[in-house]
Amino acid sequence: MKKNTLLLAILLPLASIIAQSSTTIDRKVNNLLAKMTLEEKIGQMNQYNGFWNFTGPSPKGGDAAYKYQNLASGKVGSMLNVRGVKQVKEVQKIAVEQSRLGIPLIIGFDLIHGYETVSPIPLAESASWDIAAIEKSAALGAKEASAAGINWTFAPMVDITRDARWGRVMEGAGEDPYLGSLIAAARVRGFQGENLDDIHSIAACAKHFAAYGFAEGGRDYNTVDIGLNTLHNIVLPPFKAAADAGVKTFMNSFNDLNGIPATADRYLQREILKEEWGFDGFVVSDWGSLREMIDHGYAKDRKHAGELALNGGSDMDMESYIYLDYIETLLKEGKVSQAQIDDAVARILRVKFELGLFEDPYKYCDEEREKTVIGSKEILDGALDMAKKSIVLLKNEKQTLPLKKEGQKIALIGPLAADKNSPLGNWRIAAADNSAVSVLEGLNAYKGNAITHEQGVKLVNKIPAGFHEEVDINTTDRAGMEEAVAAAKEADVVVMVLGEYGFQSGEGRSRAHLDLPGFQQELLEKVHAVNSNIVLVVMNGRPLVLNWAAENIPAIVEAWHLGTQSGHAIAQVLYGDYNPSGKLPMSFPRSVGQMPLYYNQKSTGRPGADGEDAGSVFWSHYGDERNSALFPFGYGLSYTSFDYSDIRLSDNKMNRDGSITAQVDVTNSGKIDGKEVVQLYLYDHHASATRPTRELKGFKLIELKAGETKTVEFKIDQERLKFYNGAQKWEAEPGDFSLYIGTDSTTKRRADFVLQ
Ligand code: GLC
Repeated sequence: MKKNTLLLAILLPLASIIAQSSTTIDRKVNNLLAKMTLEEKIGQMNQYNGFWNFTGPSPKGGDAAYKYQNLASGKVGSMLNVRGVKQVKEVQKIAVEQSRLGIPLIIGFDLIHGYETVSPIPLAESASWDIAAIEKSAALGAKEASAAGINWTFAPMVDITRDARWGRVMEGAGEDPYLGSLIAAARVRGFQGENLDDIHSIAACAKHFAAYGFAEGGRDYNTVDIGLNTLHNIVLPPFKAAADAGVKTFMNSFNDLNGIPATADRYLQREILKEEWGFDGFVVSDWGSLREMIDHGYAKDRKHAGELALNGGSDMDMESYIYLDYIETLLKEGKVSQAQIDDAVARILRVKFELGLFEDPYKYCDEEREKTVIGSKEILDGALDMAKKSIVLLKNEKQTLPLKKEGQKIALIGPLAADKNSPLGNWRIAAADNSAVSVLEGLNAYKGNAITHEQGVKLVNKIPAGFHEEVDINTTDRAGMEEAVAAAKEADVVVMVLGEYGFQSGEGRSRAHLDLPGFQQELLEKVHAVNSNIVLVVMNGRPLVLNWAAENIPAIVEAWHLGTQSGHAIAQVLYGDYNPSGKLPMSFPRSVGQMPLYYNQKSTGRPGADGEDAGSVFWSHYGDERNSALFPFGYGLSYTSFDYSDIRLSDNKMNRDGSITAQVDVTNSGKIDGKEVVQLYLYDHHASATRPTRELKGFKLIELKAGETKTVEFKIDQERLKFYNGAQKWEAEPGDFSLYIGTDSTTKRRADFVLQ
């Protein structure tokens, strides 16, 4: 039998099995739908937050009793913030065993970067540029959360943003749509696994749809007003990548987009997502976002909000209580249609069938598995590996790093040096407070040096905004500073751990300033005055302004909020047991006044030479600050060095349906094995819509032994050149292109070609 016939013989049955399974599920959905009353259908569109008095008997009074009653009568499709096998089983039993049709709940949770074992914040993981590691990190998070009864995560957050003032930068993949798209797809694959009904697979959720990261002024929940060019070229690609990766749910965003609250935005949720992209999962609203349309001044009242949201394509109502209250009336009044209701419910049921919840509603409720999986060595090791790969070396002069492993007197100074809470970052609901390995503990795991620890600036306890301990970095009391300076004076080397406390970024945590908070800058300068041999470890959830440090401190390590294994990862990098390989996924500014700041800027009609005297003021610049980033997108150093050859193009002319290749030789010219992210940027010099002067269109993470050379090749075809153009079409346009390959977004290594 010929090879291709054999192949067909294998593939055809496989294809029909896949087709059957979805047809089978569609059939099951339709059969169930046909049995459901209107009230039961609307119930599936209703999601409640956990309301259980889990320490004691089931809820008795008030709101909880109302919710309990609805749960028992099939008027709840999903719950969030119910976790732990015991708790999930409790609510699932009510839904399955007390309601008429026994439709199981889908249990959602914010598994953003790990469950009880916390991995680095997503912005930190993105700094690894290691797509396989990011996928694995998501898979380990899903493994731990699914062991605790969770079968749906409200992640990945794929909001592109260019504004470090916005608190939720910590939750995403930074400023670039190409890197953001690869990471979005990797996280979806990690969470959902090969098969959604695998025991460790959970449904993922691409959020927040859309453009939430473009909130004006970087102020959370604020107005978003962007043009179609930015929406399609920058904001939507990671969402499309998540949809193409098979993400099962989307979550809409709190913001209005060009005057329309995303929750009711037909253009986004029906025309683009469900029609153009063919998305067959369901859309959940963000917390109370239906009700918030009244505050937006878009809905007259709650009933009107329900009408707008369902017509706009929101399938499930998170915690607004609106669908349950008004959909039946709206249907009677002809304001919503039965078809819309059936479509929303079918989407929700389909995901539950695909998760295998109808076969076994308690499949995620295995107390033995919960005990063995949560906090397992496999998951802890995975968190450490991801943390090391997320660290970015920003500066290393005079071979300050790696530290000597013995005979050194090290002064460890800073409010975050012994902090076991901040490294967990925000969005770590399931993690116990103070469960991170601190830098002090990480350094103490190495026995050869004498470590003296001083806070220098104390942490002060805050009234928690949520259900975790909250601290702040002192802004009123200099107690501790003298002791720190004295310790620095006696030390051979000072390691300072400064930055933001764990809840200084995240939802509702926007900042108007990007300096080191509190007295930290003063502490840094006072220590430097007595001992300039300083390694600065920055622990933060967003890009910060580090001008003075960049000027005066010999070694700077960007350590983000790295999660449970933070201290061990940082110590292993400081001692050279891991050669840092991270690259910045967001530009670090010279001033907050540069916000929004990003590398893929357009030329403007008045371009100029950053940092040089342009001879006139009539160009796009500030009189008091440079245009460029302090540390640019894609930047990160290594303990070794990498040399690049010139670019070799296979041709400098490319036909539209053809391709060319670009090659560089990269050599590890240092004495230590290391990893390099070789980055490819393209520039379309003139087009039917203005284009960024460079855009990331490829990268390769390579490992090179000391002295080793590798040839890195990129294939350029028209797919890499397509963009949402002036005719509002995704096309590649003929013309002149420049191609840059190098170690970060400022590389000058260039080759030109023409697309014919
Ligand atoms: C929040 C967030 C969203 C989260 C949801 C459930 O307000 O905006 O990202 O998934 O509520 O916690």
